[in-house]
Amino acid sequence: MTTALVEKQVLLERLDGLRQIPTIPAVLTPLLHYLQQPVEQIDLREITDFLARDKSLAAQCLHMANSPLFGSGRWGRVESLRGAVVSLGVHHISDIAMSCGVLNLLPAGKTSIDPTVFWEHSLGCALVCRRLARKINLCDPGKAYLAGLLHDLGIIVNLWVLPKEFGAAFNIARAEGIPLHEAEQRSLGFTHCDSGHLLAENWGLAPDLIAVVTHHHSPEQSSQDSGLVALVHVADLLCRMSSLNYGYAEQRQVNLFEDDGFSLLAQISTGLKNFDWARLTFELDSYMDEVHSLVRAIYRA
Ligand SMILES: [Fe+2]
Ligand SMILES: [Fe+2]
Repeated sequence: MTTALVEKQVLLERLDGLRQIPTIPAVLTPLLHYLQQPVEQIDLREITDFLARDKSLAAQCLHMANSPLFGSGRWGRVESLRGAVVSLGVHHISDIAMSCGVLNLLPAGKTSIDPTVFWEHSLGCALVCRRLARKINLCDPGKAYLAGLLHDLGIIVNLWVLPKEFGAAFNIARAEGIPLHEAEQRSLGFTHCDSGHLLAENWGLAPDLIAVVTHHHSPEQSSQDSGLVALVHVADLLCRMSSLNYGYAEQRQVNLFEDDGFSLLAQISTGLKNFDWARLTFELDSYMDEVHSLVRAIYRA
């Protein structure tokens, strides 16, 4: 074996470096808290003021507001934050603000996994989760979106605390065309699900989001919120089989309908029986170009 396994103890010690990882931008915590009120109590001006406090967040929100992935286009091009808040509505603004906030968490400089590729995968997964949740009526689409956005949080941890070792695992995955978590397990002795679990707990994320971060590659092991976990598992698989993967194609043939996570989702949601998969695949194709150009525009902002 060329790469030494990282002992659990070493992982824990290195994860002490979690303190270096930037948390969600300071402005987002009060904003997300404010947005949890009943909608009739929300003052749109307050939201605009929150976002305007962070210039790069504000610029990124405007980019997203003008993307067909979020905006309806009904109101034409949005030029101001206030216009974005009015045209998109409160729920979409919180999705957008959270997306922009977590986009800024990756370390600066060269990383083994291209940051734009990583966020295309995360944003793509968030959008597929939201779409699926709506279609099969499984859970709140906003919650599904957030779960999809955050599911690979552990990759961010690995990039911060074990950049060299994670880089070696990523190279194995790419060279052999195998799933990233399998290469991590083989060369690191743990996966981004383990390290993501530690960060998700450290951040105090909701238990259902912690379950997603921890079990999205093994939904059958999740003792709680298994519907949301299985939903993210399926969305992740769909993205990895498309160009919203991690920058390399996995060589394994996957039959979605024989996948354990898919069967679990089918048991939990009866809505899946009549689901139009051909239509979702078609929609996924049209998402891709949009996701690619949106993430690239945001990285230039
Ligand atoms: Fe993952
Ligand atoms: Fe993923």
